[in-house]
Amino acid sequence: MSTTTTGPVARDVATEDVPGPRDRLGRPLRDLRISVIETCNYRCPYCMPEGATPEEGPLDATRRLDFDAIEAVARSAVRLGARKLRLTGGEPLLRRGLEQLVARLAAIPGVEDLALTTNGSLLAAKARSLREAGLHRLTISLDALDPGLFAQLSGGRGRLGDVLAGIAAAEDAGFGPLKFNVVVQRGVNEGEVLPLLERFRGSGHVVRFIEYMDVGSCNGWRREAVVPSVELRDRIAARWPLRARGRSYRGEVADRYQYLDGQGEIGFVSSVTAPFCGDCHRARLSADGRLHTCLFASSGYDLKPALDDGAPALDAAIAQAWLGRGDRYSELRSDATPPAGAPVRRRIEMFYIGG
Ligand code: GTP
Ligand code: 5AD
Ligand code: SF4
Ligand code: SF4
Repeated sequence: MSTTTTGPVARDVATEDVPGPRDRLGRPLRDLRISVIETCNYRCPYCMPEGATPEEGPLDATRRLDFDAIEAVARSAVRLGARKLRLTGGEPLLRRGLEQLVARLAAIPGVEDLALTTNGSLLAAKARSLREAGLHRLTISLDALDPGLFAQLSGGRGRLGDVLAGIAAAEDAGFGPLKFNVVVQRGVNEGEVLPLLERFRGSGHVVRFIEYMDVGSCNGWRREAVVPSVELRDRIAARWPLRARGRSYRGEVADRYQYLDGQGEIGFVSSVTAPFCGDCHRARLSADGRLHTCLFASSGYDLKPALDDGAPALDAAIAQAWLGRGDRYSELRSDATPPAGAPVRRRIEMFYIGG
């Protein structure tokens, strides 16, 4: 059984008491998100639409960082101040032997929180071994409870039953409150919002609604498809009155609300209508070893040369990337709408860089 002592709740990773570099806007590095694989068994239209041939494409597997290299980058990030690691993809459970990586990352002194974001399709078989390897927390993407709509939103590849079985397996394996990420799109799955809440109210799990973001270049994002969190919140509150709870730790992406009737908590991630760049302390490592300092970055810093040169070189490379960081894309996006016809800046795809 797992011997982890870390609880299931996201930790308050306070920023003041931690050593390490501050970026150009004074933000420390606290959180490393590690994409372990850039492919996925789903084709969610908002992330990796069927038939899209983004520049990154699937990697030749030999270009993926091996576990030694991923661990080395994680250790370096921790030396520079990171306290939280999150494994992402693509779909991270497709990466062979992932439990071994989890065990190695969980053993790094200084890692206070080790989480994973998954589409849940393979979780039924993996939840227990991930827990035993030392994974602290799980976030599961779940955009609909209607089986037909669910299938459609996975690009025709997913089955709701598999994800529900994965959720049950995660509960059985002892994962505490789970988080569910729901990307809401206007006219697509708005009708799923109340059923999702109805199902998970009182379960201890936390449903979070994510505004559809203009990440990547292949999803054909339109602002009209975004449902502002405030609108959703008001609709939900009309059914179940809510009380604002704010954020539980500095830099948390979700704004939290509590049901007045004591049935738990929900969250909103409002990167389009209420950007949260000011406290953003996240770096992202792609499966092929590039460090991205923003979800919307157009390129990353190739860490492979520094990885070959050893830990001091790696620390220096990551610190250098962080010191030069001035990213605040979501804030800039909401400050100014680009003129019609302006060229679209190339952006890294979500499945390549992780959510
Ligand atoms: P906790 O650790 O539980 O607080 O979760 P988290 O916020 O790390 O979780 P998660 O990875 O599930 O984030 C939820 C969603 O928020 C992601 O899937 C992204 O869509 C979005 N998101 C996360 N980080 C960022 C960010 O730095 N910028 C923007 N714009 N969106 C983000
Ligand atoms: N907008 C918002 N969230 C997205 N995700 C993927 N693409 C988008 C997008 N365009 C989310 C998924 C998942 C996580 C990996 O990223 O819902 O929870
Ligand atoms: Fe796969 Fe997640 Fe992207 Fe959907 S959102 S295609 S499940 S990586
Ligand atoms: Fe951080 Fe970039 Fe997201 Fe802003 S847009 S919160 S800087 S990742």
